Amino acid sequence: EELLKKSSEDVTVIINGREYPAKKGEVMLGVAIREGIEIPHLCYEASLSPYGACRLCMVEKRCRDRSEMVTSCTLRAEDGLEVVTDSPEILRHRRMILELYLAEAPKSEVIKSLAARYGVTKTRFFKKTDKDDPLGNKCILCGLCVRVCNEIIGAGVISFVNRGPYTVVSTPFSGENSDCLGCKACVSVCPTHAIVTGDSGDERIMKSWGETKVKMRECPVCGNYY
Ligand code: FES
Repeated sequence: EELLKKSSEDVTVIINGREYPAKKGEVMLGVAIREGIEIPHLCYEASLSPYGACRLCMVEKRCRDRSEMVTSCTLRAEDGLEVVTDSPEILRHRRMILELYLAEAPKSEVIKSLAARYGVTKTRFFKKTDKDDPLGNKCILCGLCVRVCNEIIGAGVISFVNRGPYTVVSTPFSGENSDCLGCKACVSVCPTHAIVTGDSGDERIMKSWGETKVKMRECPVCGNYY
């Protein structure tokens, strides 16, 4: 976004052999989405700075006789930039990532149907921490909820806890003393629908983290009352 504001220079990029207009510095995934070109992605959110966490949006960047695989959500448009979104190597990589996500989030219908779209219905991997996942085995650790809560809302109540294969997304909030606004920004950015809430009177129930009740109040960003 920053780069885009500074530069409104028009450029032409090439995707799968066809030319498309773009603004210098905008991310190639954004160009592809605008042009209706399919690149699967799970951790891209236009209002947040590119992060490159899910590795699903990989494309092949071509330059003369060389090519390299890069995440399209972090690749900036420049004049003449050429990418391929569906080469055999890219498709192989995509299927491998989806297989890993099937193991990481076996209860997510989003992951299951995305994987099936690429012919992946089984996984050779397994997740060690099934019973300890507070998000019901639907979370792929993309970090969008953590970032939106910290960087945009400023509440900072969601974070990664533990390390390595034991990493999960969790929260220390509890009841009325929580800094959680119940704004549901985390719910709306979660690509796998792992975070679940419900309402009861003027309370919001964060069902994903132990049915914690949060008093609704005003969001400092949008001013709406949650
Ligand atoms: Fe690019 Fe996740 S959308 S790495």
